[in-house]
Amino acid sequence: MNFILNHKYSDGNTPIRAEEAEQLIPRISTMGELNEYEALNILQAREWAFSSRTIKSSNPLEEPFVRMLHAKMFDQVWKWAGTYRKHELNIGCDPREIIQRIPQLVSNAQYWLDHNTFSIDECLIRLHHQLVSKIHPFPNGNGRHARMMTDVIAAKFGRPEFTWGAGENLVAETTARAAYLAALRALDANDNDVKPLLDFARS
Ligand SMILES: Nc1ncnc2c1ncn2[C@@H]1O[C@H](COP(=O)(O)OP(=O)(O)OP(=O)(O)O)[C@@H](O)[C@H]1O
Ligand SMILES: [Mg+2]
Repeated sequence: MNFILNHKYSDGNTPIRAEEAEQLIPRISTMGELNEYEALNILQAREWAFSSRTIKSSNPLEEPFVRMLHAKMFDQVWKWAGTYRKHELNIGCDPREIIQRIPQLVSNAQYWLDHNTFSIDECLIRLHHQLVSKIHPFPNGNGRHARMMTDVIAAKFGRPEFTWGAGENLVAETTARAAYLAALRALDANDNDVKPLLDFARS
């Protein structure tokens, strides 16, 4: 597990803690292999999440879906896939609040969408920001999960998937990642400053 604990994590990427590193499923020994396993798992989750069956029969604006999607994205790599974090981080809410904050967030988003409080895209981007920044519900994988959540809800509401910096690698230190984090931080600092993240997600 030392390769996980000794890794130098990119800006804004929550480091994997020892308790979580112990719960790795595949026998691997490099971050490169870990990234490949996760990417493959996430690809399979995509197929499930965007199948017409899932889009038609499930409601991504319900709390169990939030956990289900994380489980599908990481269940071949991490035993904690689909379970909320139990420890404090320097991002997100108190871990004891997650169980209430997720249902509140998805029902707020449903309300914004039903009442045209914002454009559909703005509703989705505000949900994305609240999920990944204010709650940060999982031990890891929050960024990738919250982007896919946002895309699944977009599909459900007849909007195209977001492009999140034109498919440029967001996991590594790229200019797209720097732009993404800067846009999230702008919205952290000022609740009206949603345009940078909206523009980034459609760029
Ligand atoms: N200062 C910040 N303000 C708001 N959101 C942030 C901030 N720093 C990080 N984030 C969010 O947290 C995510 C990182 O969390 P985590 O490591 O759990 O997710 P990940 O999927 O493993 O990583 P990533 O999305 O970076 O590949 C970032 O992608 C971003 O969405
Ligand atoms: Mg991470």
